[in-house]
Amino acid sequence: MKVTSAGLFALVSLLPFAAAQAPIWGQCGGIGWTGPTTCASGSTCTVGNPYFSQCLPGTASSSSVSTPSGSSTSTAPGSTGSTAPAPGSPFTGTTYFLSPPYASEVAAAAKLITNSATAAKAASVANIPTFIWLDSVSKIAPFGTYLSTASAQQKSTGQKLLVPIVIYDLPDRDCAALASNGEFSIANNGAANYKTLYIDPIVALIKQFPDVKIVAVIEPDSLANLVTNLSVAKCANAQSVYLSSVTYAIQQLSAVGVTMYLDAGHAGWLGWPANLGPAAQLFISLYQNAGKPSGVRGLATNVANYNALVAASPDPITQGDPSFDEMLYIQNLAPLLGSSFPAHFIVDQGRSGQQNLRQQWGDWCNVVNAGFGTRPTTNTGSSLIDAIVWVKPGGECDGTSNSSSPRFDAHCALSDAAPNAPEAGTWFQSYFETLVTRANPSL
Ligand SMILES: *[C@@H]1O[C@H](CO)[C@@H](O)[C@H](O)[C@H]1NC(C)=O
Ligand SMILES: *[C@@H]1O[C@H](CO)[C@@H](O)[C@H](O)[C@H]1NC(C)=O
Repeated sequence: MKVTSAGLFALVSLLPFAAAQAPIWGQCGGIGWTGPTTCASGSTCTVGNPYFSQCLPGTASSSSVSTPSGSSTSTAPGSTGSTAPAPGSPFTGTTYFLSPPYASEVAAAAKLITNSATAAKAASVANIPTFIWLDSVSKIAPFGTYLSTASAQQKSTGQKLLVPIVIYDLPDRDCAALASNGEFSIANNGAANYKTLYIDPIVALIKQFPDVKIVAVIEPDSLANLVTNLSVAKCANAQSVYLSSVTYAIQQLSAVGVTMYLDAGHAGWLGWPANLGPAAQLFISLYQNAGKPSGVRGLATNVANYNALVAASPDPITQGDPSFDEMLYIQNLAPLLGSSFPAHFIVDQGRSGQQNLRQQWGDWCNVVNAGFGTRPTTNTGSSLIDAIVWVKPGGECDGTSNSSSPRFDAHCALSDAAPNAPEAGTWFQSYFETLVTRANPSL
């Protein structure tokens, strides 16, 4: 489905790590790396693994993070970080760190809009918190920069920040669709690469900033595909690797204090009566077998999808499913989790502002006439739901409509999918403009 690597950082020139010298925490080398190989003064290019060298502050064991006021504070990389997440919702007492790449995309997009009122509304989207997708190894170095920025920012303001991320790089990713397949393949050492080239470097970075709170959505679609799509050969083949990889991810991320919500599809996927029980069993067994990592807080629903949290009336395409919106899905799933899995939820409403748009409930690709939805809030109307969130960065394409592309998925050429769509993850300007003008509540 949704976001992927290629063009997410098309506006890379606006970001500090594209400078001639890599900044502190930036990538400075590795197989396939074409960016800067020298580091900003005060840092040294250090080999992490064959694919990833990074500018680490100073030389050995202490680092100095400049704050906006020009003062600096020292931390010791690698020396801390085994903090169990504080109990309770990560959204309590924190303010979001705004995604720098999304802010850049939105600012550039707003400049292309000639109507000044619409342009102003578009520009305001940059201030709405959206999750940062770590959907390839190349996103890890910029993530280090964001953590450094967030740490400095919260030191200077005293306001505790929450950095929202999506872990999304499983081997044989997106096993039941085509548009968002990833960089690792099971046939080519993907299970080991996921650990050593993806999860381990992310964990190492997080460990360097124990003061920064992180909330993560874990691997959109992966477990849901194991519930309903094992008849697809690629999913059947991926089953054990998905389970072991997700287990590794939640154990390692929990150990450095990340609060996590496992992706749980949406009402039109796992909300059907026949799927609720098997889904609950899968979440429970994964969590229990992983040793109940304390960082697992619950489940994320509707990621990158279009369903209402509470539908005014059932969309006709939902007919037959008693869970015809996300609230009903959550209320029907939670009792099946019982006390065997922490039943707290977050729900993506980023593109759910307009309803009754689709021909089939399974249509997920650039659905026409969608609008931005309810803003992120902890005022959710349910004690089961920690927060309404914007996980999908609205405006980034779900998949190309070009049937000649190697990553073409037929869902992206349906009559309810927006035409002329570029590759997954790249900016889709006309789609973004529709999200802006059809936002509900309006921007
Ligand atoms: C995956 O499962 C969903 C839900 O049952 C179904 O709608 C979809 O067609 C399946 N995908 C494939 C490729 O079989
Ligand atoms: C569609 O994809 C093919 C294969 O990648 C490419 O050659 C062609 O230029 C693309 N067409 C458009 C309109 O982008």
